[in-house]
Order: sequence, then C-alpha cells, then structure tokens
Amino acid sequence: MNDSADPNGHLAWFRNASPYIHAHRGRTFVLAFGGEAVEETDFTALIHDIALLARLGVRLVLVHGARPQIERRLATAGIEPHYHGGLRITAEADLPLVCEATGRVRYEIEATLSTGLPNTPMAGAGIRVTGGNYVTARPWGVHEGVDHQHTGVVRRVDGEAITGALDRGEIVLLSPLGYSATGEIFNLHAEDIATEVAVALRAEKLLFLMEEAGVTDEHGDVVSRLTPAGADSYFADDALSAEVGRHLASAATAVRRGVRRVHLVARGDGALLAELYTRDGTGTLVTAETYEGLRQARVEDVGGILDLIEPLEAEGALVRRSREQLELEIDHFIVIERDGTIIACAALYPQPDGVSAEVACVAVHDDYRGGGRGRQVLDWIEQHAAERGLQRVFVLSTRTMHWFRERGYEPGDVDTLPDERQALYNWQRNSKVFVKTLG
Ligand SMILES: CC(C)(COP(=O)(O)OP(=O)(O)OC[C@H]1O[C@@H](n2cnc3c(N)ncnc32)[C@H](O)[C@@H]1OP(=O)(O)O)[C@@H](O)C(=O)NCCC(=O)NCCS
Repeated sequence: MNDSADPNGHLAWFRNASPYIHAHRGRTFVLAFGGEAVEETDFTALIHDIALLARLGVRLVLVHGARPQIERRLATAGIEPHYHGGLRITAEADLPLVCEATGRVRYEIEATLSTGLPNTPMAGAGIRVTGGNYVTARPWGVHEGVDHQHTGVVRRVDGEAITGALDRGEIVLLSPLGYSATGEIFNLHAEDIATEVAVALRAEKLLFLMEEAGVTDEHGDVVSRLTPAGADSYFADDALSAEVGRHLASAATAVRRGVRRVHLVARGDGALLAELYTRDGTGTLVTAETYEGLRQARVEDVGGILDLIEPLEAEGALVRRSREQLELEIDHFIVIERDGTIIACAALYPQPDGVSAEVACVAVHDDYRGGGRGRQVLDWIEQHAAERGLQRVFVLSTRTMHWFRERGYEPGDVDTLPDERQALYNWQRNSKVFVKTLG
C-alpha cells in the first residue's frame, strides 16, 4: 500500500473490516447494556454505532437496563430499596415508579435513535424502533421466606413476533419489564431477557456492554476467549466482580443453549465496533467453537512444542533441541494452537550475514497433517522474513526434500550457506540444503 494514498490508515482499516461487514450482514445480534450507559457522555456515540450496525445489515435486538434510574426514582420518593440475595424486591407500591423510570430510559433511547440531523452519523438513518409484549414473565417468588413480589424472571419469549419485526428491518428495543398471563407487570433483569431472547432467536451473537473490560486473569489481563467449561473454572475460584460474574454466567448459559458467540465488552467510545469489525476484539468472547490460531510462540509454549517435536526428533526427522535451548530460542518460533494444544510450529533464524535466514523445526502434529497447516506456517515464516528485508531463506532437511521443493525451494550446496552456518553443519546428519529466494 502506497502510504501517500492512505496516510491515516483508513483504507487499510476499511479493507480489514470488509470480511466482517460481509460476515455480519443479515445476522441477528442481541445487545444488552445497563441504564448506566444511557447516562454516560458517550451514549450518543454508542447509539451512532448501533445505527451503523443496523445500516450494515445487522438484525438488532437491544435490551436496556434501568437500575440507577429506578434507584434514583425510588430515592426521590423516599423509598428505601430492599434487596435479598442480590436481587431487588419490587413491592406493589414501587411498581409505578419502576415503570416510570424504565419508561423514561426507553424514551431517551428511542429519541436518540430517531435523530437524523444532516452532518451527523445519523443523517438519513431512518431507523424504526419497535417494542411490545414480547416477553412473558413469572414471579421470582419466595426465597428463604422472602417474597420478591414484582421482581420476576422470563417465562417465555415470543421469538416469532421479534423475528417478524427484524424481518421488517426494525430494531427491537426491549425494556426490563415483562407481563404475566395474569396481566401483572414484573421487573426483570435486562441480562436475563437478553439471554432468553438470544436463545429463542438462536442469535449469532449476544453482546453484554459492561463497565469492566471483560474477564481478567490473575495478572489482570483480559482473557480473550473462553469456553463455557473454561468459564466454570472462573466461578470456582470466586475471583470475579459481581458484574463480570453475572454476565459470564449468562454467557456460559447462552452458549450451552445454542448461542454461537457471547461477547463481554467494556462500554466506551468505539468498543462495540472494535469488537465486531476488527480481528482482535477488546473484550472476552465465550464460545463453544473450536479455536485455532497461528501466533508468535511464548515461553509458556515450550512444553507444548516439546510434546510436538520429541517424537519427530526420536525418529530423526528433526534435530534434537533441549528444553533450555528452546526457552532461549522461543522468540524465533511461531505456533498454531488449537484449543490450548500446540499442533504445529516452525522457526526462523536470521543469519549474521543480514540477508538470509534458516527455516527450521517445521512440524505438524500427526493428527492434523494434510490440512494445509505446514504450508500455513511456512508461508507465515517466509512473509515475516521478507518483511524483515531478508533476501533468501534456506532449510536443511533429511526427509522432507520434496515438500520444500514443491514450495519453491531449490537444491543447494553446503558451501552456499552463510559461513557461520557452514561451520555448524553436521556432516554425520548429512542433511540436504534447499534455498528459496524471497520475491
Ligand atoms: C512436512 C510437514 C510439516 C507437512 O505438514 P502438513 O500440515 O501435512 O502440510 P500441508 O498440509 O501443507 O501439505 C501436505 C502435502 O505435503 C505432502 N507431504 C507431507 N510430507 C511430505 C514429505 N516428507 N515429502 C513430500 N511431500 C510431503 C503431503 O503428501 C501432502 O500432499 P498432497 O497435498 O499432494 O496430498 C509434516 O508432514 C511434518 O511435520 N513432518 C515431520 C517433520 C519434518 O520432517 N519437518 C521438516 C524438517 S524442517
């Protein structure tokens, strides 16, 4: 890419986003956010991003909370909130105030989605927002002797009606209220609604916008991906905040019940778009899907690499490397990880001559051979070498000569190797030399 044509990287960004634009079009996403989001200064930016998703063809169900607004409304009326087991008890007398506070939040969101001023991201958006009696509720009931009165849980979701609205191109906006078969109103948890709706619609994605960045590990780093079983291990050690714990539990439930991907993302300007339209989202993704990825090796991978290469060393296909040597050389390695197991690796050793590098330790686990992974690691290594300005790569092989030849490597002699590498050549091993000039 000519830098002068793309000084700010916008074109590159747009090109990188295009596969995601294509993948998300026509898919159903359920997006849940708390009442706090509505009060933040970047709420308008969030609505703009939601409008953009809709215009890019994403079928959207929004579920909003109203906790701070309800608390304030009750406080203004001099009513003390009552909780039991972390759940609000909604008394009969509180209900009109709960409805009022919830209604206000809803109108605020609808109003913001209705703006269409020229010279704003909403210009001509023409978004239709819809709602209705899509969620049937039942009382949460009496727990440990405490009646939660009008605090409820979702009993049923009218998926057909929501699908109908989505088919008409409308955004469905759901408030944290539900109606029972007896005609009563119940105060519900927004994330309970979002989870049940995502399951009922078999949504492609369920997204929880949170205060925190996602699930973090013991070093405070965001865990980018978890399976439902992996999520369970986080509950066991009780290290999660109440907010993250609740959302993670909902995420694991949703995935177990058929939602493909649940994202836990921090609210914040642009976070939603970054999560959906870039390769590296910012939050935690919970999914049951197999994960496989190629990446730079880290020192924690040494054990996995040894498991992979030791059988190949034993049969003489690869040169033996000790754990200590691997630890020292780990920065030269790349790996393919599949659900926590290293299934392929390769290494690149730039030479002191400054123009060449040795490709080494190319290995794919027996169970995964013939799936293009060998080619994938080799391509990556060669591309990386070319990006570093190197002109050629060479490999010393005893068994895989044809595999390299078919990938553009030409037979060479030991004396064509850089001097330092010639000095280390193992004549007893008698490997063949192959060289490829990088284009
Ligand atoms: C060589 C190796 C990395 C290939 O991995 P892979 O993931 O199976 O590779 P790909 O899927 O990209 O390529 C598979 C193709 O290579 C062929 N191939 C595999 N090993 C080969 C060999 N030793 N010689 C020639 N061709 C070979 C396969 O038959 C297949 O061909 P096809 O597509 O016509 O059926 C893997 O077989 C391996 O780990 N070998 C042992 C370690 C080794 O010798 N490494 C090289 C030393 S640096």
